[in-house]
Amino acid sequence: MQSLLDNIYQEVFPMLGQGKVADYIPALACVEPRQFGIAICDNEGNVYTVGDAEVPFSIQSISKVFNLVLAMNHYGDGLWDRVGCEPSGLPFNSLVQLEYENGIPRNPFINAGALVISDMNQSRFASPHLAVRDFVRRLSGNPEINANRIVADSEFEYRARNAATAYLMKAFNNFENEVEDVLHSYFYNCALEMSCADLARGASFLANRGYSQCAGEQILSPKQASQVNALLATSGMYNEAGSFAFQVGLPGKSGVGGGIIAMVPGRFSICVFSPALNHMGNSALGVAALTSLTKHIKWSVY
Ligand code: DON
Repeated sequence: MQSLLDNIYQEVFPMLGQGKVADYIPALACVEPRQFGIAICDNEGNVYTVGDAEVPFSIQSISKVFNLVLAMNHYGDGLWDRVGCEPSGLPFNSLVQLEYENGIPRNPFINAGALVISDMNQSRFASPHLAVRDFVRRLSGNPEINANRIVADSEFEYRARNAATAYLMKAFNNFENEVEDVLHSYFYNCALEMSCADLARGASFLANRGYSQCAGEQILSPKQASQVNALLATSGMYNEAGSFAFQVGLPGKSGVGGGIIAMVPGRFSICVFSPALNHMGNSALGVAALTSLTKHIKWSVY
């Protein structure tokens, strides 16, 4: 496994310098672009790393996966009355579909969907903004994981579009709590900082029929784990999901902080980090590294 990682790293490293870091908030615009790390966690719980795999970075939309899993634990199938499971084919923060689909977001990985899921968790937890943080600490065995307050506050300052999305859903009776309270929790989750090693461990249950070796717990039923993987495969990579399936062929989720998690079901989870993004908002080297991975292992879910 280590030599697989080393080969991918060497193959993709020359691309360092391609892409552009997210600049929609100042706190992310100043991240050093020339970083690249990969970690794999296999289904026995062994972790393999290369490059900047221990460097914590802003997980951003990768938090949507943990947010969803937490809500699935508490709401079961009732959750799907409030959010769909279809790809949107539109940018992650688009509002147009939401209006003509009566405030029901297409899936939990676009912002509207993640906001509804955050609203559900807000109703369930005593300290809602800490619920996802505590969950990822448990899943990755790292009690040091925290949110970057500067990033969270900056996201809140530039909240207009997410606030509009949440208020539109409130107008359709698909939002229970105060919008600003839920936004605080949502941005706190996006601002969590984790390394590739943390994320590979944290997501490993999705490659292992819902069982986390690291936490020693069944996190989701095998059927639910397959459902999350199906959603990741169809909607995890924004509007690049189709070409990611075509090129890589694994369930995956990216974030604008430059991280991508992906699952090889039955074998291992992987996390790649490199902050410079391609024109679709996904890590340029991350997509290249995962393309190289499936080429080397000669396997994809398809
Ligand atoms: O809501 C936002 O705009 C960001 N915090 C989400 C970032 C992200 O990774 C976009 N992904 N879907």
